[in-house]
Amino acid sequence: MEITNVTEYQAIAKEKLPKMVYDYYASGAEDQWTLAENRNAFSRILFRPRILIDVSKIDMSTSVLGFKISMPIMIAPTAMQKMAHPEGEYATARAASAAGTIMTLSSWATSSVEEVASTGPGIRFFQLYVYKDRNVVAQLVRRAERAGFKAIALTVDTPRLGRREADIKNRFTLPPFLTLKNFEGLDLGKMDKADDSGLASYVAGQIDRSLSWKDVKWLQTITSLPILVKGVLTAEDTRLALESGAAGIIVSNHGARQLDYVPSTIMALEEVVKAAQGRVPVFLDGGVRRGTDVFKALALGASGIFIGRPVVFSLAAEGEAGVRKVLQMLHDEFELTMALSGCRTIKEITRNHIVTEWDAPHALPAARL
Ligand code: FNR
Repeated sequence: MEITNVTEYQAIAKEKLPKMVYDYYASGAEDQWTLAENRNAFSRILFRPRILIDVSKIDMSTSVLGFKISMPIMIAPTAMQKMAHPEGEYATARAASAAGTIMTLSSWATSSVEEVASTGPGIRFFQLYVYKDRNVVAQLVRRAERAGFKAIALTVDTPRLGRREADIKNRFTLPPFLTLKNFEGLDLGKMDKADDSGLASYVAGQIDRSLSWKDVKWLQTITSLPILVKGVLTAEDTRLALESGAAGIIVSNHGARQLDYVPSTIMALEEVVKAAQGRVPVFLDGGVRRGTDVFKALALGASGIFIGRPVVFSLAAEGEAGVRKVLQMLHDEFELTMALSGCRTIKEITRNHIVTEWDAPHALPAARL
């Protein structure tokens, strides 16, 4: 059957993938309340479309940290993509570059920064987890720079791994034929089988729980790349990120995989945007599955969004062609949303094009939970 929207890839991935892999990709933390909320919250924001505007030409292009891209839809870092498809991160990199947008490569990729760079030209960011051994971090950042990555997305919401119960039940671990490629030479590429989630044990052993704002400054002493702080949900932390020299902020709850019962990212976005005062761009990830979601995020002040699970699910279903199709469908839906709300450029999307439950509670139907 023909695939007509991004969400449909999830069921196909579920059929194709081993249970341990599918569960790792799909699940959230604990009760998975935030996981559902990341989607549901979008349905509580409605449009205020403008009519009779000439929308015969729509320009969706934008620029992120000075890099021109075709649309404000980018790829979030998701770990271990070769579990989804043998071409893993290569396929994702090629699909992103064909779509003219940015891919963020995970620290825990099953392809190295050099390998991904060798797939051809493309604007790419590198997502960083800070290991206890800072030499490991410094080496990795240097390799990412040399491989032509343009920014560091520093993930700050993972001093410990969230409690993902499916991974505990499945004793999740990286299949033995794969490695965390960036760490292979450093003897940190393998994940032991544990009496728990193997990834949770790996994080407990290797990741630096003492990470703090001073380390954001430290990072700037070892790299000239701009740093995006990924995992901000409050105004307080937005101000601290600005003081610490962040070049941008990613409003993220890690796809609801870390602390459960944090708000959806679309609900947290406006608070962060206001605190950022236009000094740095603010991005969002979490639950974006429709072009209408992209529009809502931009109307609330985001400069762009990132998608996570749609990439791994489409990769599992159809490899590179699947990821290309996901990007194309979101592109087309977003373009249609712009046309139907009377916006011809990204700049024309304003706060007045939407209404949220915190603007006018009576104007919206009850939340569908
Ligand atoms: C992630 N995410 C993530 N984030 C990060 O900083 N480093 C990583 O290695 C990973 N790995 C990862 C694996 C998988 C399977 C998922 C689903 C997520 C979080 C990711 O970057 C992003 O924040 C969310 O995925 C966005 O939410 P959606 O689009 O999946 O709803």
